[in-house]
Amino acid sequence: MPPSILVTTRIPSSVLARLELVGQVDLATDGLTPATLRERLSGKRALVCVMTDCIDATALDAGPELEIVANIAVGYDNIDVAAASSRGVFVTNTPGVLTDAVAELTWGLILSVTRRTAEGDRLIRRDVWKGWALDFMLGMELSGKQLGIVGAGRIGRAVAARASAFGMEVVFASRSRERDTAPGEIRMPLDQLLVTSDVVSLHVPLTSETRHLIDRRALARMKRSAYLINTARGPVVDETALDWALEERLIAGAALDVFEREPEVHPGLLQRPNVVLVPHLGSATHETRTAMADLAARNVEVVLAGQPPLTPVTQASIRS
Ligand code: GLV
Repeated sequence: MPPSILVTTRIPSSVLARLELVGQVDLATDGLTPATLRERLSGKRALVCVMTDCIDATALDAGPELEIVANIAVGYDNIDVAAASSRGVFVTNTPGVLTDAVAELTWGLILSVTRRTAEGDRLIRRDVWKGWALDFMLGMELSGKQLGIVGAGRIGRAVAARASAFGMEVVFASRSRERDTAPGEIRMPLDQLLVTSDVVSLHVPLTSETRHLIDRRALARMKRSAYLINTARGPVVDETALDWALEERLIAGAALDVFEREPEVHPGLLQRPNVVLVPHLGSATHETRTAMADLAARNVEVVLAGQPPLTPVTQASIRS
């Protein structure tokens, strides 16, 4: 009997073909509830899933033959990795292949919020633009300003690598050890980064330590002229606190690709012209989404062949 593989999302045909070479694919593109996910996991040896699938201990128990959970995402906060490890199930993610796409979107958001392009687009569509004026819709220039990057992983560093094109100085706040600091990289405590940066961009995974990392206190430390960018995970920012900080004019604006309760957005943020909202598109390019699905499939391929996964998520990487 070929191994059975559950795939919870539409995937490119080339990736489906790759999986069909190694097993029987059950393509569940009809929107699985936790209950139907559990039903469909019965008898499966591999699961290819996405960040909107909650793979907790109950789901894992519904698939006692599972050998691998291959998440098509770099983040894996939707999976109980400890529960998977204790059941001998590999968990894999898709690091590396989405770095450039997310970095590019981050820059799109930085430019959009500081130069008010989404706001200007809405204004033109409402037919209320009266024409050019010297003092109309002024924003903040990036050149000579400080970009504070929270998290010095692949994506944070890829965002930093593009900063010199805009003449920005980059500083990092990161929990990783000093010896991981690359030559020329400036590290500082988060509090100092918040106080001194003109743009603060978040690039940390969601963990119990980073949930609401940006809360009222953190927002109150930022410059009143500064902007907050989040392309990491929604719950890293306390949206109610962000709405409060914008109301109190404690910061100049925010650009968000991710939200605390997707697809819901805090109603206060929806009303604010100085907030750019994007529906979780960080990795959403044709090239990257194909590469992500393909990497997940390659992980399944090797694990079902009895080899170690290519990009495992380990307990150690959760703790680091
Ligand atoms: C998307 O948000 C990802 O983690 O890949």
